[in-house]
Amino acid sequence: LRKVIIEKIESVLTLDDIEKLRNQYLSKKGELSQQMAKMKDLPNDEKPLFGKLINEVKELVENRIISKINDLKEKELLKKLENEKIDVTIPADEISLGTIHPLNQVIEDLEDFFIGQGYEVKEGPEVESDFYNFEMMNFSKGHPARDMQDTFYITEETLLRTHTSPVQARAMLEKNGKPVKAVCPGKTYRRDEDDPTHSHQFMQFEGIVVDKGISFANLKDTLLNMTRHLFGNDREIRIRPSYFPFVEPGVEVDVVYIKPDGTKGYIEILGAGLVHPNVLRMGGYDPDVYSGFAFGIGIERIAILKYGVEDIRNFYINDIRFLQQFKGDL
Ligand code: PHE
Repeated sequence: LRKVIIEKIESVLTLDDIEKLRNQYLSKKGELSQQMAKMKDLPNDEKPLFGKLINEVKELVENRIISKINDLKEKELLKKLENEKIDVTIPADEISLGTIHPLNQVIEDLEDFFIGQGYEVKEGPEVESDFYNFEMMNFSKGHPARDMQDTFYITEETLLRTHTSPVQARAMLEKNGKPVKAVCPGKTYRRDEDDPTHSHQFMQFEGIVVDKGISFANLKDTLLNMTRHLFGNDREIRIRPSYFPFVEPGVEVDVVYIKPDGTKGYIEILGAGLVHPNVLRMGGYDPDVYSGFAFGIGIERIAILKYGVEDIRNFYINDIRFLQQFKGDL
């Protein structure tokens, strides 16, 4: 019997089966207990020997079962570890990187350019007061130039800023009469019908410099360096007179491009000028001592020129196929 049991124990493969064997032999009604019960039918002188024998077998079986259980548990663990092994030599899945939005690429590029020349980067609110958007920019109430800008009014006194120029006023007031040299990128809003060249929401990049002795030559130099940085040294620009209430004189800058028929075309990219004495005064400067220049660049216009985008609305619909094209420019 002992041999049979031990063979069975050794051949068992799972923990469940070993549990069954344990029941079969060692439980109260198990085979070894039944053997023990036979003892009463034996002659008295054989009883001690038989009892000893059964107990030995019982102990042996118990020990074997326990070591088998340990054995099986160990095997199970090894199997588990085997399954969970990581092969570090398998090539990794390709992670696809996002792209920086083309408008943000233009903004970051311009920020780098101006920071390198000592400008601060400022931000202003998109929900702006009529006061900063117009009044501080020398559009008095009822000024005809207010019609130039189709404004989204929120209340009579608050609106979505129509340009980043109100940040000029905020930057000047913040300096308390000291020189200012700052740029401000941001979203702007006008009540335009959306079409391939118009969007009710667009972006501008404002610049303002106020100090003693700032002249138009400084403005021209700054703008020329900037367009060269953006479009290369050979790219021609055209500066032509224009009107904005907050500058005097005021100009607009066009970038020259060659049309398919070989003639020159012009794309306007910014408005600029020398800060109007009224704006300086409201900003806390004596216009007889201080002077300054300001510019406001159309970010979409730059991106359209740089990347050849045909419809301005592409910048805003977030079509991944459109955005993926700007991967190489990171
Ligand atoms: N704010 C003007 C616009 O939105 C641009 C501009 C900025 C012009 C600064 C002159 C000086 O059209």
